[in-house]
Order: sequence, then structure tokens, then C-alpha cells
Amino acid sequence: MAETNSVSDEVFNPPVSLQAQAHIKTMQEYEELYRESIDDPESFWKRIYETFYWKSPPTGPFLDYNFDIRKGPISIKWLAGAQTNICYNILDRNVENGLGDKVAFYWEGNNPGDDGKITYSELLVQVCKFANVLKDLGVGVGDRIAIYMPMIPELTVAMLACARIGAIHSIVFAGYSSESLADRILDAECCAIVTADGVWRGNKLLNLKNIVDRAMSLCEKRNHLVNKCVVVRHLGPKCENLVDGMISNNLCEESQLGKRPVHGFKISWQDGRDIWWHDLMGTVDSVCEPVWMDAEDPLFMLYTSGSTGIPKGVLHTTGGYMMYATATFKYTFDFHPDDIYWCTADIGWITGHTYVTYGPLANGATSVMFEGTPFYPDAGRFWAIVDKYKVNTFYTAPTAIRSLMKFGDEFVTKYSRSSLRILGTVGEPINPEAWLWYHRVVGNSTCAIVDTFWQTETGGHVITPLPGATPTKPGSATFPFFGILPTILSEEGHEIKGTGEGYLVFKQPWPGIMRTVHGDHERFETTYFKKFPGYYCTGDGAHRDKDGYLWITGRIDDLVNVSGHLLSTAEVESALIEHHSVAEAASVSHPHPIKGECIYCFVTLKEGHNLTDELVMELKNKVRHKIGPFAQPDFIQNAPALPKTRSGKIMRRILRKIARGDRDLGDTSTLADESVIDVLFKYRAQDA
Ligand code: PRX
Repeated sequence: MAETNSVSDEVFNPPVSLQAQAHIKTMQEYEELYRESIDDPESFWKRIYETFYWKSPPTGPFLDYNFDIRKGPISIKWLAGAQTNICYNILDRNVENGLGDKVAFYWEGNNPGDDGKITYSELLVQVCKFANVLKDLGVGVGDRIAIYMPMIPELTVAMLACARIGAIHSIVFAGYSSESLADRILDAECCAIVTADGVWRGNKLLNLKNIVDRAMSLCEKRNHLVNKCVVVRHLGPKCENLVDGMISNNLCEESQLGKRPVHGFKISWQDGRDIWWHDLMGTVDSVCEPVWMDAEDPLFMLYTSGSTGIPKGVLHTTGGYMMYATATFKYTFDFHPDDIYWCTADIGWITGHTYVTYGPLANGATSVMFEGTPFYPDAGRFWAIVDKYKVNTFYTAPTAIRSLMKFGDEFVTKYSRSSLRILGTVGEPINPEAWLWYHRVVGNSTCAIVDTFWQTETGGHVITPLPGATPTKPGSATFPFFGILPTILSEEGHEIKGTGEGYLVFKQPWPGIMRTVHGDHERFETTYFKKFPGYYCTGDGAHRDKDGYLWITGRIDDLVNVSGHLLSTAEVESALIEHHSVAEAASVSHPHPIKGECIYCFVTLKEGHNLTDELVMELKNKVRHKIGPFAQPDFIQNAPALPKTRSGKIMRRILRKIARGDRDLGDTSTLADESVIDVLFKYRAQDA
């Protein structure tokens, strides 16, 4: 395998066969459209706007914004006053346009052989029914609904039902702990939650309902009542209760409980509050008029970690997000109607929102929805599924690629994969070695690779190659998507022209950008617009090379990107100091060969405590239980004291170096006590 650095300048041209039929075939075509999207956003986006149904047109300007905090509050409005409904556009209109019998999702369960499918018209019926269920439960425009579900079609049904009636969905990844779920329910003041009894992930059985129950009682203790909890019976035992044969036909012949015995699987239940999904869906009307929403009405919120405080409820609105999800899906994946597309992300993350649900459905695509993991029953599962459904476009995370590489090529090469055309990555920087493996082994050197850089906040891809046009370099996300004007700034806020490295910022709004942080517009302004007035600050660093290619260098704040999931070091620290033995804690990001980054913690223990192996385990578990399994630190080291400035601020820059065993600490003159450094090196985790 080639060395990381020596290969990074290699250029890969778009595959000729793909280029011939691509929407954008050359860099020249890209550049012309790109110029228009920057110089005249209205004329560019109007063409996308016109592909949708609008009950009424905008009442004011197409785009109205203030990106400069010095001139007043930050505000971004696309198409204000226009009335539409995203659910109507992505379901009813597709059905009206003859796609009713087209498969919207092939559903592939955790166990090979558990599968099902749902067409556009079936999906529409389910969505209308669940929208009526929500209305019967008293849910109306602007109400927040929490969703904590596995990757099953009902998750899409629930989110689109919210969108149909103007309720705001707040999906929480079903790997978060009860406490994290409770924090999010409370912040959003959700009146109802939709969940499932449980789910298998690989060999692990998760009791989702019990996690939700604990979250609801935590909310109750903090004076917030979740009135209704709708529960999908996913694990059986009585599959005949499921309506319309929509879900996993195999499961219905023989319950999963029967197939893979679940000893003592029980869920708790509170009559009046908890209701089975199938009981509600059995009798409800299957027609539901969409509620016409303003283009700037909220569509959903999704929580993402912040450097400080509780996670931020990133708020996306209706019209702009609809245009952006649709356009990025079409161009980045060069979508054509006969494509079979598969994004492996969980809908609980933004990637699943935009590129499992909204983007593909808006384009009338057929997608695969996968419940399981890449390693179950073995490390060939992804490629078995690619062959089973003849997937053309496959979209996953660098962490998944790196972990599959480790199992060897045979798990890949024993499958044909001949349907593959485009391979995408998202969520974290991809190292050139993993990029090349993806290209050569998975893609047989015939596929285009799209390394898509974006964020929960951006709503969709912002820096990405276009598969038919962009010559790619392994590890570079290449060039901006239409409407995105990136700039690299120095620490002092000067624009770096030509080659150079600095803060990645965007100079003007695009339709999919978040509009606010739920309930805290000031936090929105402070986080993204204060450091560099006039720019949206991504919080990532970037480097521009001599050919103008952008290379994302990673977070420049205190967020850690573990396997593509952002976590704040502050969240981890607050979990650690809840343990009775911990006086103080600091955590930093640390390189990890598979996860990209992992969490390395320094703990100062209270008098009388020693950092035994047992205590290390307890502390790791503490974080795991408080946040979720994916947040578990990899390393915990003893820190009799932490390196601080005279004003008491922890110097994380130094801690990162200590974790890496790097004695080149730079300027340490601002440290209150330099002697802590040697002590910390002494206790450094040996296997880090
Ligand atoms: O640091 C960047 C990294 O993931 C962050 C956004 O995380 P999140 O909001 O959870 O959304 C993830 C899915 C869009 C970014 O600030 N990131 C995302 N994609 C890439 C990336 N870093 C490098 N290259 C990427 N392609």
C-alpha cells in the first residue's frame, strides 16, 4: 500500500463512462454554473425552486440576509412568504408523476434474509396515516416530536408525518444514553416521542423502550412531561399486527423473537402514555391534507455538540433545506432515475436526514435502508448488500472504510460489486491510504470517489467533488458546491489567497444553512459569526494547495471527531467529574488508526483514591452511560495536577502533546507551574 504523503498529490480523473452521461461533465461546466451560483444566487436557485410545488410564491425577496454581526442580528431568509410542504413535494408529487410503484426503500434488516421494501405510494399512505395519528394525539404546527428509533421504515414515516402537519422532528440517534436523550427532549420541550421496543445491532440487543422510559422519568424529575410515547413493535412477537405488510415480510412469517430467541426481553409500559404504533395505525384514515408551511418555518432540529454547554439544537427550515438537499443529492451523486443508492448513515445523524430521507426521496430515488452493522454476520456484509440490490452509489464514513480494510481484501473481492459507479465518504477527513483502498479494492479502480465535507449546520454538502467533472486527489474534498463561497482566514481574520492554511469560513449564505440554535439565537451568533464578523465560521481548519484544492485539516475548537461523530471535550469532562473519585478532569482529542480521533482523558483524583485498572474501567463506563457507547474514552491517565495558565485556564494544547508523547511543547512560559509537565509525562498511558 502506498505511503500516505507520497500519494496525496496523485490526481484521479472522473471515469470516462460516468462522465459521458453526467449532469456536469467538465470542470468548465462546473465553473460556469458555480460562478452564476455565487454572482447571481437567485437565478441559479430559481431553477431548483421551479422544480417544486409552491402553494404561493415568496412575498418578499428571494434571499434576504445579514451575515455581519456588526450590522445587526444574523438572519438568513430564503423565499420568505412562499408556502409549500416538503412531504407533499417528495411523496405526493412523485406519486402524481408516475413513481407510485417505484421502490422508495429496500429495507435490509440486521440479519441477512430479513428484508422488505416500500414503494412511494405505500410510503405516502403510511405517512398520511401517521400524520393523522399525530393529529389525533393533539400534535399541531410547531410542536416538537422526539424520535428515538432504529433504522426501520417507520423512522422515515414518523419524520415525514411530522413534516406533513408542520410539527418539528427532533431525532436523537438511538445509541445515545437516557441522559443525553432527556437533555435533548427537555431543551426542545418535546410533547411526544416515537420509539421502538428494541433492536438488534449485530449480536447486541438494545432495549430502546427502556432507555426511553428512563429518559422520560428524568424529564419528569425536571418538571417536563412527555405526554405520549408511540412504540413500534419491531421485535415481535405478533407480526400479524403490523399494518399493510410494510415491514420485513420475513419477520412476519416468524417473529424475530422466535428466530433468535431473546431470553427475557421485556419492556416497561405505562398505560395512557405508551401506545403501540400498530394499534394507532390500524384504524386511522389514510388521507391527510398537507399543512402549507412558510418556506422559513422550521422543518426539524438536530442536536450537535458545542464547545461548551449542552448540545445545540441546530434548526433547519423548510424551503431552503428542501432545495439544498435536492440539489446536492442530484449533483454530488450524479443521480439518475434508475440508480440504486445506499447511504449507510443512521438517520439519527444529519447525513441520514439529508441523504437517507430528504435528498433521495425528493429526487424520486430508490435507496437501500440498512438496520445492521458492517461487521455482522461478517466483514463482507456491505458488499453482500451491494450485490443483492445492485447498488450504484454507495455512501459511507472513513471509519467504516478503515475498519473494513483491517479485515483484508478477501471480504470485498469475493463479491462482484460490478454495479458500483460512485463511492462517497463523509463525516471526517479520509486519509489517502483509506481513500486509495476504497478506490482500488472496493471500486475496482473504476468508480468516482466523492469526499464530501459538510456539517449538521450546513444542511448538505458544501465542499465536494462532482463525480463526472472533478479530478480528485485522495484526501481532498476538492472544491465548493454551488452557492458556497469558501475563504481561508488567518488568526487575525485576513483572507489567505492562493496556497495556505487557516480557518475555513463561508462568505455568503446558501439555502441549506441552519437558521438558528433552537431557543438561543445569541448562541448561534456567538458560535458561528462572532470570531470573524461577516463570515460563517465552520470551526474547521483547511489548507488550499497550489491547484486550488481544499484539504480539511480538522476541528480547531475543543470538539473531537470520534468515528465521524462530534463530541465536546466538556461533555466528557462533566461526565467524569460526576464520579466520586474525580476532583478535576480534562480531555483532548488523540489520533486513532480506525476512529480517526479518540478521546484521551487526564483525571486528578481526590485524596485517598488511586487510578487502578478497575477505576479506569469505571470511569470509561461512566462516560459511556452518561453520553453513549460511542463516546467512551480510549485512554485515561492520572494527572496529579493539570497544566494551567496563571488565570487557571487548562492548556489543552500541552495536554494533546503529552498524550502523543511529543516533548516539543512550544511556548510554556504562560504556565503557572511548569513542573506538572514532567509528572504528566511520567503517567502517560503507555499504549497511546
Ligand atoms: O470536522 C468536520 C467533519 O465533521 C464535522 C461535522 O460533523 P457533523 O455536524 O456531525 O456532521 C457530520 C456529517 C456531515 C465537520 O465540522 N467532517 C465532515 N465531513 C468531513 C469532515 N472532515 C473532513 N472531511 C470531510 N469530508
